[in-house]
Amino acid sequence: MAERVILAYSGGLDTSVGIGWLRDATGKDVVALAVDVGQGGEDMEDIRQRALDCGAVDAIVIDAKDEFADDFLMPALKANALYQKRYPLVSALSRPVIAKHLAITATKLGADSVAHGCTGKGNDQVRFEAAVAALAPDLTSIAPVRDLALTRDKAILYAEEHDLPIRQSAKNPYSIDKNVWGRAVETGFLEDPWNAPIEDLYEYTMDPSVAKDADEITIHFESGIPTAIDGVAMSALKIIEVMNELAGKHGVGRIDVVEDRLIGIKSREVYEAPAAMALIAAHEALESLTMERDLNRYKRGVESEWANLVYDGLWYSGLKRSLDVFIDDTQRYVSGDIRLKLLGGRATVTGQKSEQSLYDFSLATYDTGDTFDQSLSKGFIEIWSLPSKISARRDLRG
Ligand code: ARG
Repeated sequence: MAERVILAYSGGLDTSVGIGWLRDATGKDVVALAVDVGQGGEDMEDIRQRALDCGAVDAIVIDAKDEFADDFLMPALKANALYQKRYPLVSALSRPVIAKHLAITATKLGADSVAHGCTGKGNDQVRFEAAVAALAPDLTSIAPVRDLALTRDKAILYAEEHDLPIRQSAKNPYSIDKNVWGRAVETGFLEDPWNAPIEDLYEYTMDPSVAKDADEITIHFESGIPTAIDGVAMSALKIIEVMNELAGKHGVGRIDVVEDRLIGIKSREVYEAPAAMALIAAHEALESLTMERDLNRYKRGVESEWANLVYDGLWYSGLKRSLDVFIDDTQRYVSGDIRLKLLGGRATVTGQKSEQSLYDFSLATYDTGDTFDQSLSKGFIEIWSLPSKISARRDLRG
């Protein structure tokens, strides 16, 4: 029996053509694996059939939507994860779950290698291969588009010559990656960062100026995880789906950045991530209400480290694992309700309450009922400023 390779299959042009390329170049039988992370669009059964029609010996579909939401997106939410303060890691989060299923399937079917359709210019190749290396170190990763230098023109030609059933229009000028956490759009006229995005790019969000009336919703969190919207309990996946609708209607979560890729290239990216951005705003507010000052400040640093690791493909690394333990521990008291107003491209926190709140009215108020002994501040400031005072005297001496 021929050796097997498990290909992460999307149903698009590159991975469809990749089936034949892989077989021709390696002599291996190709098993296509389509992992559903909420990318929507086509029916997964159609995608499975297309893989078989393109020459895969077997095609497997895995519904990983709940797993993706529970085990990948919820940790990202607990980490308020934004790369370079802007990008909620949409693609970076899906690669480790897809890689996990590649590794599991390869091991189960006795394959010696896995493959993906990434080019040699992006982050996703790194994420797939670094994740597979960490999960199944003996598997080899193959990237036909990169390793065989297969261009888009060659792919189209190959598909035509072999009469492959590719539905995707060869003319689509954008490279799009999407899942339930958001959409990433690259290339085409966006490659000039001076060109403003056009409405056509967006699918999860409406033009923020269209909806005139605000929506107000209340999200309930338990230990950092959203568990209900307006009192209706839902799974993490369902909450994200509902939030994509509600926040998307108001154009929340449109992001336009020039981003630093791991491999050193700067790229212009347009994202839309309505649920991610609204949930992060709500979660961060609840943390401010329930977390001690030092912990909150320290965690903000950990969050950016966490986002860098995940962006850089190190989901399954020791450092990331240890930071997760820290972040989980910080979420102990992050329970309560956040009211969000959605309007004009913004998700604004308008109310916050928690049984674990550290906000103390009698300490905070400037009205009667103030229990804070203001006279204590005088001595505190004397001691607090002492190092500054001593060093200032030295500096003045010259
Ligand atoms: N630049 C983003 C990232 O590295 C998005 C990548 C999108 N991938 C794609 N194949 N279009 O996470």
